[in-house]
Amino acid sequence: MLDIVTLGSDAEDAILHSKAEPVADIDPAIRTLIEGMHEAMRHGKGIGLAGPQVDRALRLFVTHVEGDQPRAFINPEIIMTSPEEADYEEGCLSIPGLYTNVRRPASLRIQAWNERGRPFTLEATDLLARVILHEYDHLDGILFVDRLSAARRERALAAYLKKVRM
Ligand code: NI
Repeated sequence: MLDIVTLGSDAEDAILHSKAEPVADIDPAIRTLIEGMHEAMRHGKGIGLAGPQVDRALRLFVTHVEGDQPRAFINPEIIMTSPEEADYEEGCLSIPGLYTNVRRPASLRIQAWNERGRPFTLEATDLLARVILHEYDHLDGILFVDRLSAARRERALAAYLKKVRM
């Protein structure tokens, strides 16, 4: 089972704040990594998981939203986001136990490659759009708390860190 890097647990969480590198080749090692990420995501009862969260600084993530198939997005590019925004309560396997409302675009269009090396374009709305935007941020070292106002971010992080350091 792949270990999930969590915020503030030790000095090893720098990868959560770093920009990930493009995947050079969608080879068997990448397919194995993606299978492992799906497994770790299921085990953690998450609906999305990005490379940096399993200590791989690679631009890929997986999703599995209820009612949708399990998906892998390799070297993704978000090519459109809607001007309409939505509030939704988010959590993150790397910040366990912290949930808070985040405002983001309500829908998007994304291009990526799947685990078989095929390019695809996907239009997403609702929860799938939400999880894609959250996971895509991980590839740029951005956590959902970084999308909050400074005051809300500080409060949320203080509560979370107090809990993990007890
Ligand atoms: Ni996350």
